[in-house]
Amino acid sequence: MMRLDKYLSQSGEHSRTEAGRLIRSGAVQVNGQVVRKPDTQISPDAQVVLAGVEIGDSSQQYYLLHKPAGVLTAARDNRAQTVMDLVPENLRKRKVLPVGRLDKDTTGLLLLTNDGELAHFLLSPNRHVWKEYRATVTGQLTQADAEAFANGLQLSDFVAKPAKLTIVESTPETSVALVEVREGKFHQVKRMFAATGHEVTALHRHRFGPLTLPEDLPVGQCRPLTEEEVQALRDSVKARRKDGEEIEPPQGKGNDNG
Ligand code: URA
Repeated sequence: MMRLDKYLSQSGEHSRTEAGRLIRSGAVQVNGQVVRKPDTQISPDAQVVLAGVEIGDSSQQYYLLHKPAGVLTAARDNRAQTVMDLVPENLRKRKVLPVGRLDKDTTGLLLLTNDGELAHFLLSPNRHVWKEYRATVTGQLTQADAEAFANGLQLSDFVAKPAKLTIVESTPETSVALVEVREGKFHQVKRMFAATGHEVTALHRHRFGPLTLPEDLPVGQCRPLTEEEVQALRDSVKARRKDGEEIEPPQGKGNDNG
């Protein structure tokens, strides 16, 4: 169930205030009946007609983007290309936004949705889902680095939560590793490697909670999540609530980015 004014505003054409005004003016019908109360609860399959025109599916949207390097994770930027330039126009109208942030040079899986509540939970510091990256770094990674990641690295302003480092290739000049983290602070992975003396030269995210970047999704393309994927995301947030960790609502936004 959803409030009628929210449903209308999510359809992308009107702000919540405008939607309320239109509803009160009698311009909106739900299942053939004029409804004048903006807070009327409607079911997802309700037929909503505004001034004689049926409002399209304004349901919550969930998309997965294969982010290329060189593109900003931002809603809009006057000069640089942003991830929103890579999604269909109708998603922008429906207020679909990235969940968290990947650096400009980071590639891989980025979730976009207009489900603000789910996004909030996925980013909440207390419920952060695990994310997995493939990192190419300078220098030789060793088990000592893996242990440092597992113990929780001291960064300049906080101690990173324990993370998992799996070394894939290691030579004196360069190494490749898989990194699993459940925080999403600004430059988190790069800062963790910097703290162990390595510079990240390439970073690619292939997992976000239960979501895996599909191998056949070309760089720069997005696709809607399947129902199973959306359910898995919801379950991942619920699972974190049950595992005994703190579940207080986050205090403000902090500097978590995803
Ligand atoms: N950590 C980083 O340092 N950068 C990203 O883009 C994501 C995680």
